[in-house]
Amino acid sequence: MIKKIEDLNLNNKKVIIRCDFNVPMEDGKIIDDTRIKEAIKTINYALSKNASVILMSHLGRIKTKEDKEKNSLREVAKRLEELLERPVIFIDETHGKKLEEACKNLKNGEVLLMENTRFEDLDGKKESNCDEELSKYWASLGDIFIDDAFGCSHRKAASNVGISKYLETGIGFLMEKEVRVLSELNTPERPYTIILGGKKVSDKIGVIKTLVEKADYILIGGGMAFTFLKAEGFNVGSSVVDNDMLDFCREILDKYEEKIMLPVDIVTVKEFKNTGNYEMKDITQLDLDDIGVDIGKRTVKNFEKVIRKSKTIFWNGPLGVYEFSYFRKATEDILKYIVKENVKTVLGGGDIVGCASLLGLKDKVYFASTGGGASLEYLEGKALPALNIKK
Ligand code: 3PG
Repeated sequence: MIKKIEDLNLNNKKVIIRCDFNVPMEDGKIIDDTRIKEAIKTINYALSKNASVILMSHLGRIKTKEDKEKNSLREVAKRLEELLERPVIFIDETHGKKLEEACKNLKNGEVLLMENTRFEDLDGKKESNCDEELSKYWASLGDIFIDDAFGCSHRKAASNVGISKYLETGIGFLMEKEVRVLSELNTPERPYTIILGGKKVSDKIGVIKTLVEKADYILIGGGMAFTFLKAEGFNVGSSVVDNDMLDFCREILDKYEEKIMLPVDIVTVKEFKNTGNYEMKDITQLDLDDIGVDIGKRTVKNFEKVIRKSKTIFWNGPLGVYEFSYFRKATEDILKYIVKENVKTVLGGGDIVGCASLLGLKDKVYFASTGGGASLEYLEGKALPALNIKK
């Protein structure tokens, strides 16, 4: 049985909290701080119990020395200071004397954030391969380990699964909330509708296979719709297509024809950029040089009809190229419709949560998961390594 943070005595202890501060960054600035905000409750709880807090997280993927420069947690430390309203000691190391001394000298009520755990990946992928020595070393810096990093609970790393072998361990409030809400989707109130968007079918084969069985309706938009549409025999012009997935899509469409709804119209451009120079076309009308960037108005109406009769929705992936302001319209319309109709909706992490946050709609839906890959693997029924360890 996994212990919760409230089951542990944190008084006068050095509590290592693994968070997922893997936040989107642009030009060195944080563009969505949801994951940092979601970690605050657990950190404040530990502080209120007279503990000192050592925070750990990864950021991005580190393959070269240059990746280190772009993926420092320094900006996260600054944002944390604002949200916690107290100083955060930032240590720009993941091992060594400076880190050890700082952890040793940390007093109750103080917070320290160490540098990106994946900096250890440059030396033989020690973090991502859950290296035993590294796990032991990090565990030696504290007394208790709290895993609150739901976003990377599908990874078996030294900083989550590894450390937990050497310290008394529990889960934080965010981890607990994520698992509780996502488990509600195992027995959803029906009709249960899945909205799937995002770029690639190949990234989501597992979840498509599992959810198509469980759901009553599947609404497909985003880049992945073009692979399904091509598999149906439509000319999708120059839109992005996962050619290796055509057979898979055909099979799914044949087998679950009555559940799956594809776009009937598309917003198209001739050049892939944020432009007001677009057209709305019936799916039978695309030219060879048309690039699909959003689903059209009639499709939105069709999707809304299904949403109106749904009792539960799980949504993964935006319906258009949401990074471009012109092409987040369908995602915005559908999100607003869900809010208006008050349908219980879980947003499955990653881009759809980023998009909902950008549109100011994230907090209006039932739940926005902080885990993209993790929420998908959970719903697929895969065991999440971070939740599967003996604690
Ligand atoms: C995520 O953003 O999905 C998690 O932080 C995991 O990141 P990863 O896919 O780089 O392991």
